[in-house]
Amino acid sequence: MRKTAREALKGFCRVCPVCDGRVCAGEVPGMGGAGEGSAFGANLEALRRYRLTMRTIHGVKSADTTLSLFGRTLSMPILAAPMTGVVYNMGGKIGEAAFSEMIIAGAEAAGTLGGIGDGADPAMYEGGVAAISAHNGLGAAFIKPREQAAVVERIRLAEQAKALAVGVDVDGAGLVTMALKGQPVGPKTFAELKELIGSTSLPFIVKGIMTPDEAELAVNAGAAAIVVSNHGGRVLDHTPGAAEVLPGIAAAVRGKTAILADGGVRTGADVLKLLALGADAVLVGRPLVVGAFGGGAKGVAFLLNKMRGELVSAMLLTGTASVREVSRDIVSPRP
Ligand SMILES: Cc1cc2nc3c(=O)[nH]c(=O)nc-3n(C[C@H](O)[C@H](O)[C@H](O)COP(=O)(O)O)c2cc1C
Repeated sequence: MRKTAREALKGFCRVCPVCDGRVCAGEVPGMGGAGEGSAFGANLEALRRYRLTMRTIHGVKSADTTLSLFGRTLSMPILAAPMTGVVYNMGGKIGEAAFSEMIIAGAEAAGTLGGIGDGADPAMYEGGVAAISAHNGLGAAFIKPREQAAVVERIRLAEQAKALAVGVDVDGAGLVTMALKGQPVGPKTFAELKELIGSTSLPFIVKGIMTPDEAELAVNAGAAAIVVSNHGGRVLDHTPGAAEVLPGIAAAVRGKTAILADGGVRTGADVLKLLALGADAVLVGRPLVVGAFGGGAKGVAFLLNKMRGELVSAMLLTGTASVREVSRDIVSPRP
C-alpha cells in the first residue's frame, strides 16, 4: 500500500517511515507544514514529550474503544480529518470528490466518521458534501471562515446532505489564497461565531482552537465540539503542538463541550496520550492520504483499524478499560 501510494503521490508526499514533516518542510501547497515546518514538527514533539506508564498486574482484560459522538456510537475515538486541495497538494492522480469519497467511505467501514473540508474552488466543498450525502450523512463538513452569508449557504448544503455535524476551521482565517480567488476569509468575532452556530440545529464544531480562553468563547457561543489543532502546522509556523496546549484547554472546558484534538497522531499510543491529556477523540490527517492513494477507501479503513488495534494494546498495557475514562496518570512528561 505504501509503495503504491508513493508512486501515486508523485513526490508531493514521500511516504516517509514516520510522517513528521521534516522532508516536506515548507511545502504548502504540498503536504508539509508552513514556513520551516516547525509547527508541524511541534505536534509530533509535543506527543513525544509524554511517556506512557506501563501497568500489567491488574484486572483490565479487555479494552472498550467505543464512544458516543454527535448522537452516534463510534467504534473508536479516531476520526478522519478534513483535507482539501487534493489536486494541488497531492499531485492530481486522484480528484477532490473521489478523495472525499475514499475518506468518508473508509471511515464508515471502520465504524467511525470522516471530515470533509472547504477551499477556494467551490467544487471542493461540494464534492465532500456529496460524499457525506452518499453515506447517509456519516461525516462532518468543515467550512472555511468565509463571510457570514457564504458560511450559512454551505451550512445549508451540509444540512441537506444530512451531515452529522458541521463546523468552521477558524484557523483558516489567514489564507490569502482564498482572497486572491475572490473568496475572502477572516477571523470571526464572538458575535459572528454565535450567529453561525445559532443558524443551524446541527452540532457545530469549532476547529483550530489553541488557547483556553478561545475554547471558552467557543463553548459560550454554543459549540458542540472544539478541535484543538494548529491545522497540521499549515497555517502559522512556530505555533505549539496540540498536545502542549491540550491540558490547559481541557482544564477550562472539559465536560462543557466535546474536545477533539489533532496534529501528529500516528499510532494508537498517540491517540491514548491525547485522551489522557483531555481529548474525547482525535483526528488523523496525512497518514490517511497514504491510505487513500495506496488503497482507496479500504486503505483508509485499514489504517484506522490498525490504529485502533494499537490503541487497544496500549490500553491493556496501561490498565485503561474504556476510552471514555482515561486516567491522566497514565502519561508523564519526559524528564
Ligand atoms: C493537504 C491538507 C489539506 C487540509 N485541508 C484542510 C481543510 O480543508 N479544512 C480543515 O479544517 N483542515 C484541513 N487540513 C488540516 C487537517 O484537518 C488536520 O488538522 C491536520 O492535517 C492534522 O494533522 P496531521 O496531518 O499531522 O494528522 C488539511 C491538512 C492537509 C495535510
